[in-house]
Amino acid sequence: MTSTESPNPLRELAPRDLREHTASTLARARERSVALTDAVDDEDLTRQHSKLMSPLVWDLAHIGSQEELWLVRDVGGREPLRPDIDDLYDAFQHPRADRPSLPLLGPAEARAYVREVRSKAFDVLERAPLEGRKLTEAAFAFGMIAQHEQQHDETMLATHQLRQGEPVLHAPEPPPRRIGNVAPEVLVPGGPFLMGTSVEPWALDNERPAHEVHVGAFVIDTFPVTCGQYVAFLEAGGYDEPRWWSEAGWAYRSEHAITAPRFWRREADGWWRTRFGVHEPVPADEPVVHVSFHEAEAYAAWAGKRLPTEAEWEKAARHDPATGRSLRYPWGDEEPAAQHANLGQRHLRPAVTGAYPAGASPLGVHQLIGDVWEWTSSDFAGYPGFTAFPYREYSEVFFGPEYKVLRGGSFGTDAVAIRGTFRNWDYPIRRQIFSGFRCARDPRPDERA
Ligand SMILES: [Fe+2]
Repeated sequence: MTSTESPNPLRELAPRDLREHTASTLARARERSVALTDAVDDEDLTRQHSKLMSPLVWDLAHIGSQEELWLVRDVGGREPLRPDIDDLYDAFQHPRADRPSLPLLGPAEARAYVREVRSKAFDVLERAPLEGRKLTEAAFAFGMIAQHEQQHDETMLATHQLRQGEPVLHAPEPPPRRIGNVAPEVLVPGGPFLMGTSVEPWALDNERPAHEVHVGAFVIDTFPVTCGQYVAFLEAGGYDEPRWWSEAGWAYRSEHAITAPRFWRREADGWWRTRFGVHEPVPADEPVVHVSFHEAEAYAAWAGKRLPTEAEWEKAARHDPATGRSLRYPWGDEEPAAQHANLGQRHLRPAVTGAYPAGASPLGVHQLIGDVWEWTSSDFAGYPGFTAFPYREYSEVFFGPEYKVLRGGSFGTDAVAIRGTFRNWDYPIRRQIFSGFRCARDPRPDERA
């Protein structure tokens, strides 16, 4: 059986509808950037809340700067608006820790700049031919910029989580559990599967091309690992037992005296956490978030399991055993909607396990998309046939063993910036991101049949 992937509906749209869809996707990103930056005062916008993060005002003007470079100058062929600030907002020129000392645009200037760039970008979107050039085909550059803005919005949300003070962000609670008991693990049969994509028009270079991989049978957790499960690891002394940790993981745990997920604190009556300024008991049924790769790996070893490889994760998410096809999302080919997954900062926390039965994969694996980014055991590398596009700094310069791949997106990831093929990467020590995990294992002989 030759495996295939689902076609993409964007390719079927008439040019006018494609422009409209693209414009509303860009507008949704901007609404979120504005909400995240209007939530705090000017002093707060220009302050660095953690050495790991930029001041929020840097992210805002950087969003505009990338939009100017790609949409206004490159696609539109227009004159530069602010060539003088290109260098300030080039992420490769200035590490995050140094950004507060740069002569950055102030809040009012940054807001005016991104508005001006956006009005020009909309004008370019109206007029540019959306074909004939790889960068503009199916409005790719506009989709790339919408994803870029949403990725920075997720980063800004992580900055909000690091910020001290009263809560300034508000959102409704996520849905409760909506299913009865289900098996805690799913057996994924061995066999070929088509990984990555060659048809998704807004997929980024590192997701391409589609290629067949043989994935042996494996067992994967039905849900991400919950806080309750993680507490059992803590209470069993998991952070004091070098045997569960890799050498690098143990060195990291020891050097930083790490004893629990980030933002957790042990109190007389149990574990508490701080979430966007709210101090609350750790919820047992919610996926654990703010753990590093090293912590995820140690938990998995303690549980007698391991982390899934990236190919295993994607097969669990996309493989439809009835047709052999690789789906766009676990639930099928439709764009993510509220019933499928906890995405887009619609809620300010992961949802409890079982909250999204409509988002389960054909094999019955739940909450692969949304809630928490899931660490995999794989290093970030190019797929066979990888070509850097539109520039090497997008992904290629990060390929190598220093970065681990995360999959699936979090409650802070927008729908435009996640799909079954989407790949995120970070250092194995990072945990200010909305990172969790699920475990996998090899099947026992009696399970293989
Ligand atoms: Fe960026």
